[in-house]
Amino acid sequence: MGLMEEEENSMKNWLPKLREIDVNIPETIMVDAEKFPDDEDAMIGYDKEKLEEAVDELGYPVFIRTDQASAKHEMDRISKVESKEKLHGKVHMLADDNLSKGLFGVQFSGIAVREWLNIKHNFKAFPGNLPIGYEIRAFVRDGEIECKHFYWIKDAIEKTSFKPDGWEEKLDKTKEETMARWDEVENIVLKVANEFDGWWSVDLALTEDDEWYVIDMARGEDSFHPPSCEYSPMEEDRI
Ligand SMILES: Nc1ncnc2c1ncn2[C@@H]1O[C@H](COP(=O)(O)OP(=O)(O)OP(=O)(O)O)[C@@H](O)[C@H]1O
Ligand SMILES: [Mg+2]
Repeated sequence: MGLMEEEENSMKNWLPKLREIDVNIPETIMVDAEKFPDDEDAMIGYDKEKLEEAVDELGYPVFIRTDQASAKHEMDRISKVESKEKLHGKVHMLADDNLSKGLFGVQFSGIAVREWLNIKHNFKAFPGNLPIGYEIRAFVRDGEIECKHFYWIKDAIEKTSFKPDGWEEKLDKTKEETMARWDEVENIVLKVANEFDGWWSVDLALTEDDEWYVIDMARGEDSFHPPSCEYSPMEEDRI
């Protein structure tokens, strides 16, 4: 019997598979968590000591997300943790953000504490000062690469008022320089494709010290996919 969709999308499913192959992934420690624990008046329950140990092991700053999703548009306020005083408050904001996504919220079951990556970028946007990085989303299907896209969506950046003057030129430059490096990324994505059955999105980011990291995956069906792509199930008006 196959896994439930949420279990497939969980980092608990795909990260161990990535660990089996020779690709860069940010060091990650997963701490189990539950939503709305019975014994607490809270959105998220988890072992506080375990989480603190995980963060101490990796060293500040860390990037936090759940096994399902980040709160990337609130990077400074939620996803980037720079001190122990803010850790548990940020975890609660992360849970709140996850539970507000879509109609029913995303059903997380863990908190991923990740090594902070200095992702190469030319500008930041959104209320959280999110670096608009050199990032690629590729789609793989049954062992083959199907298509590849620059990760960031112009329309989404257009909509936020938190962006610098000249952002369009900066975005174009970032996109051009990112996609010009596809040759470096292709082999990494092929290794990932070989490890996974079915249809998957694979997100990669380039760090300031010129290393590509595989940072995120999800079922193809559940991944944003530019509607202009021939392989996208999304329609133009759903953007
Ligand atoms: N370890 C990290 N250090 C610094 N920044 C990171 C790190 N991991 C991810 N990011 C940034 O945060 C963004 C979102 O991260 P991630 O893909 O894990 O979240 P997500 O909510 O699953 O995103 P998506 O909507 O693309 O599925 C990335 O595109 C990247 O810009
Ligand atoms: Mg994701």
